[in-house]
Amino acid sequence: MCGIIGYIGKQKVVPILLEGLKQLEYRGYDSAGLSVINNGKITTIKAVGKVAELQNKIGSRDFLGNIGIAHTRWATHGKPSDKNSHPHGDCEGNIFLVHNGIIENYQELKKILQKKKHKFISETDSEILAHLIEEFNKKLDFKKSVLEALKLVRGTYGLAIINKKEPEKIIIARNGSPLILGIGKDEFIVASDASAIVRHTDKIIYLDDGEIAEITSGGFEISNIKNKIVSKEISKLDWTIEESKKGGFDHFMLKEIFEQPEVIQNGLRGRIEHFLSEDNLPILGGLRPIEKKLRKIKKIIIVACGTSYYSGLVGEYMLEEYAGIPTEVEYASEFRYRKPILNDTTAIIAISQSGETADTLAAIREAKNKGALTLGIVNVVGSTIARETDAGTHTLTGPEIGVAATKSFPTQLLVLALWTMMLGRQREMSNVMSKRISEELKNIPHLIEGILKKSKEIKKIAKKYISAKDFLYVGRKYNFPIALEGALKIKEISYVHAEGYPTGEMKHGPIALIDSNFPSIFICPKDSVYEKNISGMQEIKARGGKIIAIATEGDKEILKLADDVIYIPKTLEMLTPFISVIPLQLFAYYFGVAKGYDVDKPRNLAKSVTVE
Ligand code: G6P
Repeated sequence: MCGIIGYIGKQKVVPILLEGLKQLEYRGYDSAGLSVINNGKITTIKAVGKVAELQNKIGSRDFLGNIGIAHTRWATHGKPSDKNSHPHGDCEGNIFLVHNGIIENYQELKKILQKKKHKFISETDSEILAHLIEEFNKKLDFKKSVLEALKLVRGTYGLAIINKKEPEKIIIARNGSPLILGIGKDEFIVASDASAIVRHTDKIIYLDDGEIAEITSGGFEISNIKNKIVSKEISKLDWTIEESKKGGFDHFMLKEIFEQPEVIQNGLRGRIEHFLSEDNLPILGGLRPIEKKLRKIKKIIIVACGTSYYSGLVGEYMLEEYAGIPTEVEYASEFRYRKPILNDTTAIIAISQSGETADTLAAIREAKNKGALTLGIVNVVGSTIARETDAGTHTLTGPEIGVAATKSFPTQLLVLALWTMMLGRQREMSNVMSKRISEELKNIPHLIEGILKKSKEIKKIAKKYISAKDFLYVGRKYNFPIALEGALKIKEISYVHAEGYPTGEMKHGPIALIDSNFPSIFICPKDSVYEKNISGMQEIKARGGKIIAIATEGDKEILKLADDVIYIPKTLEMLTPFISVIPLQLFAYYFGVAKGYDVDKPRNLAKSVTVE
């Protein structure tokens, strides 16, 4: 997804911008570019492909400027090309800008500007912004021109703009696309993502929607769209540079898979690790102000995308079984255009690692408009979803760099389990049950460590199936969403076809595909649906299909049916997804690596999808 970095200060700007772009690479992109101001002249350089290509184009040219903006683009309007890459300029080459988001009425605006003789170079929606500002800049100063231009725009933006006519400043603006201002010593760094700021400073300001900031080397001023100055709180960024590095692993993905015991431990700390009362209630500070409202909730709708959606599906089983609250899970992209029946006894839970996914955000806004209570299960602190929901709990996952989600999944499950305990205890759940769940949750990091020790064995199995072009993943009840997540993981990073299905549904279609070249992965721990999974396995076996089983330690019967078995330890049925997902993450990782792919940055995918 697109990334923005801007710098104004005393240092040479080009190396800083390139370094910032590299920090943003993990978000996924297809081209990059930068504009710098030097001696009243603006130089713009763009390249398709990786930041290294841009670096090559710059070569040994020495830019003396210390003000500039840069961008990584993930194509939405127009293919990846130099012309379509940012920064985009106006007709006169005075104004250059980088933009994240989508200008919905760009066609309309483009026609008006074309009538006024503006010439467009790219196919992008972003370019019209430069021309629109240029139009106002004929009479107004830079900042007022930006404000007037933005009043005409419908859509979302995170913007950083420079102007040759006022060469000592950068103007930034935000509406629906994240933008952060980093405050360093005699310097300011602007970025769409904290990872590009962390090496410069830990003092940051999160811009809110409708805010615009004028930044010079001497200071900054933030105002709203009506040009009224707003005072903002300076936050402390608590991500270290080390946290953004690979920590000795070959890939971020593997590092993040191995971090799972630790991040779950972080999520448990202070929440159930030391019970403060006899009630066996988890301590969830973010929900405290709305505890009374939660007692009145009669229906829950979970909205999310991708892996977060699958954790929501596990949450549905948990919340219905243990909290007794009717729960639905819906793709956020569908929810936003449906006519959901919501009222003040409905709670909408948004699950999002990044907290910036456009569809999830839109779903939350829609629910808010309809009067529902909105809750967030979000990793990134200060992200838009975290700020716009009425209440919530952070997953405390730390930065997740691998584009395909891994460690964010069990930490989302953890929050869902804690919420189930809390909502359950407000209703029918016994003290004893809550205690049982909490005791078992505390054991989860240790159980995951045990599975991680089997990574070599899992690598071997992945290699054994390397010629497979298709996989069927099946599971039931709590492990049906894990079948979906397992299939998604291998699709994302290995580009092989995989389908996730409930075991019972398999005979209504996918079984037709099965032959000796189409292996099935059964997630079949010893739980209440074990026998049902075994029947499914027999059906596959009878058709000559190969079987890899994720089974409970000590299950010898499974060896009669499965070609390969990966054992996982026993835990409460509701918590099996925490551990059954681990071998599937590792399987997908080793499979993708064996195929020679860049598993951290899969083709066509983005870490944070901030467009619809
Ligand atoms: C993208 C990522 C996925 C992620 C999904 C939802 O597709 O590649 O890994 O699960 O977005 O993102 P979110 O940040 O809302 O959890």
